[in-house]
Order: sequence, then C-alpha cells, then structure tokens
Amino acid sequence: MAYKEIYDSWKADPEGFWMKAAGGIDWVKSPSRALNPDRAPLYEWFSDAEVNTCWNAVDRHVQAGRGNQLAIIHDSPVTHLRKGITYKELQTRVASLAGALRAKGVEKGDRVIIYMPMIPEALEAMLACARLGAIHSVVFGGFAANELAVRIDDCKPKAIIAASCGIEPNRIVHYKPLLDGAIDLADHKPDFCVIFQREQEVAKLIEGRDFAWHTFQYGVEPADCVPVSGDHPAYILYTSGTTGAPKGVVRPTAGHLVALNWTMRAIYNVGVGDVFWAASDVGWVVGHSYICYAPLIAGCTTIVFEGKPVGTPDAGTFWRVISENKVKSFFTAPTALRAIRRDDPDGEFIKDYNLRHLQALYLAGERADPETIQWAQKHLNIPVIDHWWQTETGWAIAANPLGIEALPVKLGSPSVPMPGYDVQVLDEGGHPVSPGTLGAIAVKLPLPPGTLPTLWNAEDRFRKSYLSHFPGYYETGDAGYVDEDGYLYIMARTDDVINVAGHRLSTGAMEEVLASHPDVAECAVIGVADELKGQSPLGLLCLKKGAAKDHADVVKECVKLMRDRIGPVADFKRAVVVDRLPKTRSGKILRGTMVKIADGADWKMPATIDDPAILDEITLALRTLGLARG
Ligand code: COA
Ligand code: AMP
Repeated sequence: MAYKEIYDSWKADPEGFWMKAAGGIDWVKSPSRALNPDRAPLYEWFSDAEVNTCWNAVDRHVQAGRGNQLAIIHDSPVTHLRKGITYKELQTRVASLAGALRAKGVEKGDRVIIYMPMIPEALEAMLACARLGAIHSVVFGGFAANELAVRIDDCKPKAIIAASCGIEPNRIVHYKPLLDGAIDLADHKPDFCVIFQREQEVAKLIEGRDFAWHTFQYGVEPADCVPVSGDHPAYILYTSGTTGAPKGVVRPTAGHLVALNWTMRAIYNVGVGDVFWAASDVGWVVGHSYICYAPLIAGCTTIVFEGKPVGTPDAGTFWRVISENKVKSFFTAPTALRAIRRDDPDGEFIKDYNLRHLQALYLAGERADPETIQWAQKHLNIPVIDHWWQTETGWAIAANPLGIEALPVKLGSPSVPMPGYDVQVLDEGGHPVSPGTLGAIAVKLPLPPGTLPTLWNAEDRFRKSYLSHFPGYYETGDAGYVDEDGYLYIMARTDDVINVAGHRLSTGAMEEVLASHPDVAECAVIGVADELKGQSPLGLLCLKKGAAKDHADVVKECVKLMRDRIGPVADFKRAVVVDRLPKTRSGKILRGTMVKIADGADWKMPATIDDPAILDEITLALRTLGLARG
C-alpha cells in the first residue's frame, strides 16, 4: 500500500489501525480496545492491557531463537574500544541488574534516575527499570549538578544509577562529584546509588549509600519481567519549556511499544537482524526511542556510539562505524553533518569506506538546511530524509515513510504527517489557514499512541502548555506552513525555546541564571543564527546602578555561572552589556526584533515599541560581537 492509502486508512478507522499495529507486540493481557477517551481531552492508549517493555525488547528475541544475534554494539573511539553484546547476554545482564535493584527495594512505579554516558550499561539500566516496571528518568551528562538536583526533587527517585565518568574529547567529565553535588543540593535524597566504575576514572564511593555496579549484583537472584498496565509510565524525560523548571514528559508503556515498533518498518525500513544506528545520546529523546527501545523492540542491532562526528579522530568516524557494522539506516542531527562538512567539504573520507549496506540517512532534532541535505545526497548517493518530532511525541510527527513508500524529497520539508497525526496550521484565533500561509502548528486530539499523556506531577501545566491555547488541539510550539501537496515546513518556535546543536534549551531558564548574578539588574537571552549549531545563545545584560565592575569581568562571570548552573550543554559563551533593553509599552522585552537585528535580517520597527532609539544602541552593542551586519 502507498503512503496515502495507509494515512487515509488510519483516518477512517484509527481504532482498527492501532489495534492492528498492536499485533506486533507480545502482551501479557491483550488490549480490548486501543483508545481510552474517558478523561478527554486527556487520552490513554491500550490502558486495559498488561505488558512488559523489557520482555518485548529483549526476552522475546531470545525465546524466538535469536539469542546469539548482537543486540548492542558499543563503538567508542574515545576509549578505542569496540564490543558486541548478544540478546542472550543482554537478557542475563539486565535480569541480574533488575534483581539487584529489586533486592534493594525498587518496585513497580518507583523512580530511578540514570546519569550515564554512552556505554551499553546505560541501556541495561533503562531496561532493568523497565523489567521491574520502575520508571526511569535519564539525565544528559552535559547538565550541571543543579539541573540534576531539580530533576531529583521533581521525580523523587528511590535510586540513582550513574557512571564514574564520561569522556569528552577535551576532558574527562567527572560524573561522581556532580552526582554528589546534586544530591547535596536536592531536598529529596535517594535511598542508594549504583556506580559503574570506568577504567578511566574510579570514583570514591560513599559507604552505605553507594554501591559498585558489579558487587551490587553479586549473588542476587535475577528478576523476571513484571507485567504493568498499558498506561503505566515507562519513563519520565525532562525537556526545556518556557520557564526555568523543566517539563517531565511522561511516556506511557503500551503506546510506546506499539508506536515505536510500527515506525521501525514504516519509517526506517528495518526489521529483525538489521543494524540501526542513531548517533545521539541516551539523555535525549532520540536516544530513548532510537538508540535503546525501538531497535531492540524490532529485533535489530543497535549501536551505542561514544564519540563525536569530528575529532574522534576525524570527520570519517561516522562512515567508519557505518561501514564496519553494516549499518542499514542511520539517524543523526543536521548539526553533526555540518560539522563533518566543515572539516571534509568534498566528502573525501566518505570515499575511504564501503557504505553499500546504508539505504538511507535520517535527520531530525532541528531544521535541516537544504545545503546540508544536498551535500549528503551528493556524497552518499542515498535518500536523505528529514523528519520532525519532539520529546513530547517520542516519534515522528512528519516523515518520509521509506518502508511504505519513498515519497519525493522536498528540500526544507520533513515531508508529510504520519498516521496518528492530524496536523493543522492555525491562525491566532485557532482557525486552519490555507496552504502556504504561516501559522502555529497544532495536532488534532487525540495524539497517537506513545505520545505524552501528561507531565509528571503537573497535569495543570500540561493542560496550560499544550491544550489550552487551541482547544481540541495539541500545540506543538513550532510555527510553519503546509504546501499544496501537504508537505510541512517547520520554520521557528513560537515560544522561548532555542535549538543549539540539536539540543533544546530554554532562554527563560538561562535568563533566570543571569538574573541571579549580583550585578545584573535585567537581562535577555536570545538565540542568534550559527552556521554550525543552528542557533547560539547570546545574553544581553543591564547592570545595576553603581555596579563598578569591569563589563568584561561581569560577562566572564556570567559565562561561568551558566556553565556551573545549567552545564556545558547550554553552550553559553557570549554576552554583552547594554544600558537598556528594548520593550513594548506594556513592558515586554522585544527578543524577536533583537534576533533579527543580530542575524542581519530584515526587520520592522515594532508598532508597540516604547523607545525606538534603544534599538540603535542594541545594534551597536551587537556589532562589537561581530553580529548585526545586514
Ligand atoms: N557530557 C558532558 N559534556 C558534554 C556532553 C556530555 N554528554 N555533550 C556535550 N558536552 C559539552 C561539550 O564538551 C562542550 O563543552 P565545552 O564548552 O567545554 O567545549 C559543550 O557541552 C557543548 O557541546 P556541543 O554543543 O556538543 O558542542 P561541541 O563544539 O563539543 O560539538 C558538534 C559540536 C556539532 C560536533 C556536536 O554538537 C554534535 O555532535 N552535535 C550533534 C548533537 C546531537 O546528536 N543531538 C541529539 C539530537 S538528535
Ligand atoms: P526535542 O524535544 O529536543 O526533540 O526538540 C524538538 C524541537 O526541535 C521541535 O519542536 C522543533 O522545534 C525542533 N525540530 C526537531 N526536528 C525538526 C525538524 N526535522 N525540522 C525542524 N525543526 C525540528
């Protein structure tokens, strides 16, 4: 069947469509129906089913006789290691870790924070939680102790599983002091921590609280898979919103299994025995869905890559991994390709490797600029597929479903909506606009299986953030348009979220950090265009009267403060001191206008501006940083 027929068949009978997709999952108790609308506009999927995620990702493949197939390949140029783990080995390791967690009191519904680099043990920790029905929350290693503390206080974990260190090309990331600092800062204290000691750094353990990964598991009874109900939270993943407090996106168990399993064939065109690689990090949603869960659920081999697109050791690393491991579908962020292209503009490294198994390259996480797509098309000579999704959805809202039908690629568009998503472009009043007209992108409720049913412990915030602006719709926070052929174009965020190197960051959270500097009276953070990273954060600081410090010192302190409070991932390296910030007469800071000025784009004087002269001052200040050159 072609894409259109499949999409239309979903629209005609969503219940039938998802019940059929549910056939790809092993149930302890099969669902009697797909959608549960009892609490609309809050929806659940497969809520009367019973199921276990780990069984579907691991055990069922062993039971089907594929125990000797590789489940995980760890390819780590930063440690010069490469090793494989079979499904049988994975089952043994996960059952053992789950048994040890259970012996220490972790049960269905308990939260467990995972703070680990790109090593197979991170996936094992996630799967061990899933085995017990415990709810994991993975925190990205590039966040500072303070951000980890905020997450500890929000989800109140019984245990934290961490590694002794992570390895960045230019330094060792000392996870353990960050973890200890976070536990000190947090009001909630976990009962215990499990630390995976890496060779590169052995961390000091706190007696009675910390246990070493291996000794912790010594002599314990392995745990079997614990059935959970379909709507049981599989995990919580925090993501940036408008304010400083991150949003705890909840992932429901059954919908997650059904939807991810469906996407592996329909979108990525892979199945049992194929090698699939998503070059992301387990701390992000791409890592949850497409490094850990989906490839394993589908019986593929997944690659855990511990390195960077460039510099580990060179811009040929990705092509080496693809060639050596016979990767069939590969997923990365456009920024990674831009980094490779910058170092290897003519694609010389690509020629060194045999990439004949690679059928397609998938891009997501930020807007894929046409030049980058064209560069990849030219040098790889395979379909380059942009697809659009968010932490909240867990899988693609729009894509080019290669496993169903290879649709024509249109540069700058992530193609068409996937079954389950009725995507509409709305004007401010909530009315659908005509093709070609820019508007807010919204999805008609209910969202499909696997998407967020709520935010952790924050149902009101969920309703306010996503459901209240356009009643009957989920508001994506992205703006764009649809063309005459139904292709979507994602142009910008409608909120204060920026996207730096495929990482989603809140300018609101960054402003809170700057405002806490003793000399800063007022501030704004904007995302300015960056050739490599898409956007880059920039601070504008107004100092308190009488602040005698040198401006350069204040800027330096603010940069350090951001690194200490949010973490290196914020990539906050630039700020400038100004006398005043441009505002509307009602006092709203005109961030959008400043972005346009900084980027040297066309801009119009806002009708509501309080004092137009301030924009000249801002332009001059931005020019000192090499910006605002239209
Ligand atoms: N743990 C600790 N620190 C981390 C980290 C981690 N897991 N990941 C990144 N950082 C640090 C980096 O070391 C860097 O620190 P520095 O300021 O001391 O140099 C900082 O965070 C910013 O990192 P990054 O944005 O990655 O910039 P970079 O200059 O190191 O690398 C790219 C640039 C383009 C190569 C890199 O951003 C990249 O590979 N991006 C792809 C992103 C991606 O896959 N996103 C997932 C969405 S699909
Ligand atoms: P995250 O939740 O971190 O995955 O970030 C989601 C946001 O990244 C989306 O809301 C978009 O703003 C942006 N994004 C992700 N994929 C794409 C894409 N293919 N094209 C344009 N923007 C994207």
